Amino acid sequence: MFAHAAQQPPAAPADADLAAAAAEISTLRTEIARHNGLYHGDDAPEITDSEFDALVRRHEALERSFPALARADAPTTTVGAPPKAGFRKVAHARPMLSLENAFSEEEVREFAARCRSALGLPPTAPLSFAAEPKIDGLSLDLRYENGQLVHALTRGDGAVGEDVTANVRTITDIPQNLPHPFPQILEVRGEVYMTKDGLASLNIDRAAQGRDPYPNCRNAAAGAVRQKDPAKTAARPLRFYAYATGELSEPIGDTQMRQLATFARLGFVTNPHSTACPQVDDLLAAYQRIHTLRPDLPYDIDGVVYKVDEVALQAQLGNVSRTPRWAIAHKFPAERVVTRLEAIDIQVGRTGAQTPVARLTPVFVGGVTVSNATLHNEDEITRKDLRVGDLVIVERAGDVIPAVIGVADSDEDRSVRAPYSFPRQCPECGSDTVRGEDEAVRRCIGGLSCSKQRVTRLIHMISRPALDINGFGSEAIAEFVEARLISEPADIFRLHTRRGDLLSRKGWGEASVDKLLSSIEEKRRSPLNRALYCLGIHQVGQTASRDIARQYTSHSAVRALIDRLLGERRAALDAAGGTLDQKSLDRLHETLAKQIGIAGIGPEIVRSLLNFFDDSDNARMADELAAEMIIEDVVYVTASSPITGMTIVFTGSLETMTRDEAEAEAQKLGAKTSGSVSAKTSILVYGPGAGSKLAKAESLRVRTMTEAEWRLFIAPPGVS
Ligand code: IVH
Repeated sequence: MFAHAAQQPPAAPADADLAAAAAEISTLRTEIARHNGLYHGDDAPEITDSEFDALVRRHEALERSFPALARADAPTTTVGAPPKAGFRKVAHARPMLSLENAFSEEEVREFAARCRSALGLPPTAPLSFAAEPKIDGLSLDLRYENGQLVHALTRGDGAVGEDVTANVRTITDIPQNLPHPFPQILEVRGEVYMTKDGLASLNIDRAAQGRDPYPNCRNAAAGAVRQKDPAKTAARPLRFYAYATGELSEPIGDTQMRQLATFARLGFVTNPHSTACPQVDDLLAAYQRIHTLRPDLPYDIDGVVYKVDEVALQAQLGNVSRTPRWAIAHKFPAERVVTRLEAIDIQVGRTGAQTPVARLTPVFVGGVTVSNATLHNEDEITRKDLRVGDLVIVERAGDVIPAVIGVADSDEDRSVRAPYSFPRQCPECGSDTVRGEDEAVRRCIGGLSCSKQRVTRLIHMISRPALDINGFGSEAIAEFVEARLISEPADIFRLHTRRGDLLSRKGWGEASVDKLLSSIEEKRRSPLNRALYCLGIHQVGQTASRDIARQYTSHSAVRALIDRLLGERRAALDAAGGTLDQKSLDRLHETLAKQIGIAGIGPEIVRSLLNFFDDSDNARMADELAAEMIIEDVVYVTASSPITGMTIVFTGSLETMTRDEAEAEAQKLGAKTSGSVSAKTSILVYGPGAGSKLAKAESLRVRTMTEAEWRLFIAPPGVS
């Protein structure tokens, strides 16, 4: 990975960069997996498609820049969400892929150029494509054996789908038997969708039953396919377009267009707007045509899919992890409408973050009625000069979470409206709010006295990445806080003393109370990293918590470290007469961060960690929680270490440890250490200034790692 001249120190990423990238990648993976689940598993997306795409792109860019951090099981290499419980899970004969997105003409031209170059064709060589509307529904795999429909699967995670055959048999566009001639095995893939009229009448029925309407055609189709009772699916107006193949016992056409023709002959419905496009310009013309048609189409589409037409060339191009190289989705731009900004409300987050939310006159955009939109932060409002009462432009791309783009052009006199001034007090508790010099976010300083922060912190504490208390949800937390059964973290582990109170609550029977209490008991013993992360300290995320736990290994050591650093900070402040300017404070935090000696734990995290523990209420709360818990030490298990039996050599200057410490740690993990590189060396860990040993290791093809990569590589058990 790091090719370089023998005399030069390697052009490896700085450890700090690598650690920062590792932290960002980890956050991105969690987020991507969560949004994937919301979109595909729950049909309840929280962000727009383009916001999701931006996350995936950022993740891809980081993996490209830091290949050491790439992981085969990253959420971006899987498609969709794992199948939901309830339906039988069946492996796909061929993976069901997703599509890469293009958002501009330039990206479409790049796609065509990439295809040509991967096929070894000159840039001007003819290459034909097919263009098809991108139907906004749910993809299905229909498997026919000897002309009979044997199963219908959802995409699931791309490798394993849900068996929805019984429901799918009720869809009239989907043939049960095929007319001769047909291949012995034929998998037809396509989109099950609901028409706009179908959705409207379904929603009228739902309203009559007092049920929430489906927000859009996609969610309605997905809901209909996943009904437990096939009769319910049958009652929904579902349609199906065939557009791709899965496993085939023999070819059904040598081009995409001819495959579509075969589908039609076999009784499937294919989209009438699919066209062959001999040139890139034809693709762009098809895009324009289909975009213009969009409002008049009886179903929702969200772009145009381009496919290399020749099936043999598709096979030659193959796939890159989750997407085919031979196809791309050209997405439509987000829809925009104008509506009125009625109010700006402030929502309070776990760390007191004050997030402004636009309350809008309800408006229909991109298939849903929108009445709220996030405004991100104070500066965004100032930059856009949004004033309550303004007509504003609202944009909604793909699905959900709309954004306010700015003030709309109008003849209205805006000078009668006052510029927005961000509240200086927390709307939940009335405490002051503050904003760090380099921070975009204003925060409430109320800490645990702010009821909203109390609830959100407790919710964070029990959440899956934190203590992961099974079956304890945000509603129960809010209910118990309201009833004063809990008010701070340690109270959760004291809930068992309130069993009687719990039992007297409506909806809490003996079984549910005991189940909850035993789930809580299960997590009284938790790993150090989770115990730290669950405190919900601003900046101290999963990665930082894990890094601190790995380095300091016990709760008492971490607590002692914090006290020592707090002592130093207070002494420095005292020496300066009580206050320090921003620059000196930054320098102080940098010095303290160096003392901690963990790549990736920088001055920002240190400042946040110390600010948290400097508040006596926070410190007391954390200590009481620790006293209730059995916080497991991080144990370096020699027998199962990833370096047992290896020979390790360290060279160059190491930043987070001395050479002796590094060697002692490696030995503790069951490895031998050596001062010189030979063919027997398993790994050479190098720091800045590495020279001949590194060159020798490379010439012997010995594995080499930076110090930060080494830290990740020896990640011990006991951290989960
Ligand atoms: S082809 C290997 N064609 O879009 C290619 N997909 O964002 C597989 N979709 O998973 C897909 N209309 O659910 C293809 N005409 C079309 C499509 C289409 C809608 C969906 C499909 C796919 C998703 C990717």
